Amino acid sequence: MSKAKTICTVCNYIYDEAMGEPRLEISPALKFEDLPDEWACPECGSAKDMFQPCSCVSLPIYEQTCVVHHHDTNPNNTLAATAEGALSKSAPVGQLVAQRPLRACVLEQYGIDYCCGGKATLEEACQKKGLQVEEILEKLLAADRKGAQSADTDWTTASLKDLIDHIVNTYHQPLRQELSRVVQLAEKVARVHGDNHPEMVEVMNIFNRFKAQLELHMQKEEMVLFPGIASMEATGTPQIFGCGGGIEHPIDVMNQEHDEAGEALSAMRRLTNDYTPPDDACSSFKLLLSSLAQIESEMHQHVHKENNILFPRALELRKPALTSR
Ligand SMILES: [Fe+2]
Ligand SMILES: [Fe+2]
Repeated sequence: MSKAKTICTVCNYIYDEAMGEPRLEISPALKFEDLPDEWACPECGSAKDMFQPCSCVSLPIYEQTCVVHHHDTNPNNTLAATAEGALSKSAPVGQLVAQRPLRACVLEQYGIDYCCGGKATLEEACQKKGLQVEEILEKLLAADRKGAQSADTDWTTASLKDLIDHIVNTYHQPLRQELSRVVQLAEKVARVHGDNHPEMVEVMNIFNRFKAQLELHMQKEEMVLFPGIASMEATGTPQIFGCGGGIEHPIDVMNQEHDEAGEALSAMRRLTNDYTPPDDACSSFKLLLSSLAQIESEMHQHVHKENNILFPRALELRKPALTSR
């Protein structure tokens, strides 16, 4: 039996040839390429050209779970069947936060990665952290109830121009200031405590690279990608980037750089024992660790809004141009 899977790059729905799509009466074993040209994603309506081969076919860990992400019929798996943003353990964590930004606070609290790891389901993310998924679902439900009382902007429907302004003003500008402040602190701590705590020399080196790469990354976003997205939204015309490719190319590069930033943050967290000050830590040492923890938390929200909201919505803008070919 065929085992190929194809993923919707907009909403992460997976068409599994072994399962077919019972909701559309597509029987198992029908290959993705044999689906009619007018076939559209049953979750978000995206055209066939928005799909790409799903890499999870080669990852045994996902074999048991990815095919049921969007076919879950067990009512016990859905606690809050709201008009949109149903809270389900089989939903990708990035999608859960995209639908209700306040859920990020709960996931941060439990160390669940919802930005670069946003495609994992809540159940998978909890398993990875050794957490009880029911407990996290209850916390998320409480956050939803709280969120219903606040006027949180829904970035999944706001204009992309407003979302870009929000990202630049809320994350990029403060981050630049923080990077400049913390790099001096990291150098001071490494100089003063490096003999007793050689891991802090390594933290300083990682932070230096992290700062340089992130500053360049934000510059590329602000000077190339973001204006391109805003222009596509305003004119409805696809933009040509770099060597003549479409918007997916700079987005691929940004995604990769987000992963690298995430790895640097994870390495610093590991080296500092989850930002725990040692007994002989002075106030600068403690300030450095709390600053790193704060930068990590802000980066998760920042990267989440790009990876899981801005970029998929920008890729969606290419659809009319591609389908009209
Ligand atoms: Fe950014
Ligand atoms: Fe970015």
